[in-house]
Amino acid sequence: MEPDRKTAKCALEEAERLNPGGWADHSRYVAMACENIALHCKSLCSERAYILGLLHDIGRYAGVSSEKHLIDGYYYCMEKGWEKAAQICITHAFMIQDIETSIGVFDMEEKDYQFMKNFIAHAEYDDYDRLVQLCDALALPTGFCLLEKRFVDVTVRYGVHHATVERWKKILEIKAYFENEIGCSIYELLPGVVENSFK
Ligand SMILES: [Fe+2]
Repeated sequence: MEPDRKTAKCALEEAERLNPGGWADHSRYVAMACENIALHCKSLCSERAYILGLLHDIGRYAGVSSEKHLIDGYYYCMEKGWEKAAQICITHAFMIQDIETSIGVFDMEEKDYQFMKNFIAHAEYDDYDRLVQLCDALALPTGFCLLEKRFVDVTVRYGVHHATVERWKKILEIKAYFENEIGCSIYELLPGVVENSFK
């Protein structure tokens, strides 16, 4: 079971105190996007979507890191019994179920790397995993943004990775999947996306 909204918000605030940064506001926008999209999906609970979005980067409580934040978040949530949130702490970075497709650095212990590799290969993704993957790519710490702008921004900062195009294609596929579910453009459900994308 996941925590309720209030508990999840408190957990994020506490984590933000431990490691202040734009990641916390990014998480709040991811949560809002998840909630807004889920509200229009028959099969999803918007409250659950909000909470899972809010907690996806909670592993950043442990300090500034690259892919280590994924495993830190997993352990953090598992300790509290938040199993699905723990899963998403890892899966949100792997829209393709292969650890080699990550664009980050594996700055964790070898045993944690092996655990994640196995976890990603065997995880069963559902629409909550896919929703957080999509919304993670839509949200900056300052608001929502056109996916394609985010793609270029990330690639300019981190360089082209062998899986870059494959990752873009997967996210666009997930976007199309949810747009089919909700019957409109996802951007219609993201307040401020136009202003944010063009400034
Ligand atoms: Fe994120």
